[in-house]
Amino acid sequence: MATLLKIDSSPMGEHSISRKLTEQFASSWRKAHSGGAVVSRDLATTNIPAVNGLWVGAAYTPQDARNPEQQKALAISDALIAELQLANEYVIGVPMHNFGIPSTLKLWIDQVARVGKTFSYGADGPKGLLTGKKATLLVASGGVYEHGTAMASLNFVTPYLRAVFGFLGVTDVTIIAAEGTAQLMSGNLDPQTFLAPSLEKVQSHASL
Ligand SMILES: Cc1cc2nc3c(=O)[nH]c(=O)nc-3n(C[C@H](O)[C@H](O)[C@H](O)COP(=O)(O)O)c2cc1C
Repeated sequence: MATLLKIDSSPMGEHSISRKLTEQFASSWRKAHSGGAVVSRDLATTNIPAVNGLWVGAAYTPQDARNPEQQKALAISDALIAELQLANEYVIGVPMHNFGIPSTLKLWIDQVARVGKTFSYGADGPKGLLTGKKATLLVASGGVYEHGTAMASLNFVTPYLRAVFGFLGVTDVTIIAAEGTAQLMSGNLDPQTFLAPSLEKVQSHASL
């Protein structure tokens, strides 16, 4: 069964642009994949701890040798990784925060990038284990970071996420950006007009 994992990370609730895009993606995806399932993970309401020494020690301890404390330390990581393994497609809503990703999404990445589960080290170096997956990143930013402009060098969101997903084995990554959301603050542009081109791109990509 086709399964879409929909991840949101904006803290802005109904005011969020990236959430409107992930909603559109999920609804178009459902229409195109009858019988498919959508699993939602909201990072704004999921309490994800920062990794610590206990976590790292547990991750590098063979599963059978982990004590109860180590098993507990990895419980949330196990659950989040299971969601990635189950789904064959991911859509992730990403607001730009301080030229990078929201801290909640970084906490999620630190939990799911795990040796022996989502990547391994072999003779040829690191190998991603989430193979055969497809990801769509829906990125909203207040400014415009168009390729070839001086602003582009300040966009640490998309190169970083491509690197992380590639490291985990997800190389089929599409990025759709809704840039310049700051214009909406001025009240000179209404959200529907602003969103229309991005929603159209999302709709057609989700239907593939
Ligand atoms: C804490 C915070 C930091 C932000 N930092 C940036 C930034 O560095 N560059 C930028 O272009 N926009 C920045 N913005 C604006 C957001 O990218 C913009 O509001 C975008 O629409 C967020 O996505 P969302 O609407 O889904 O929350 C920031 C917004 C917040 C709340």
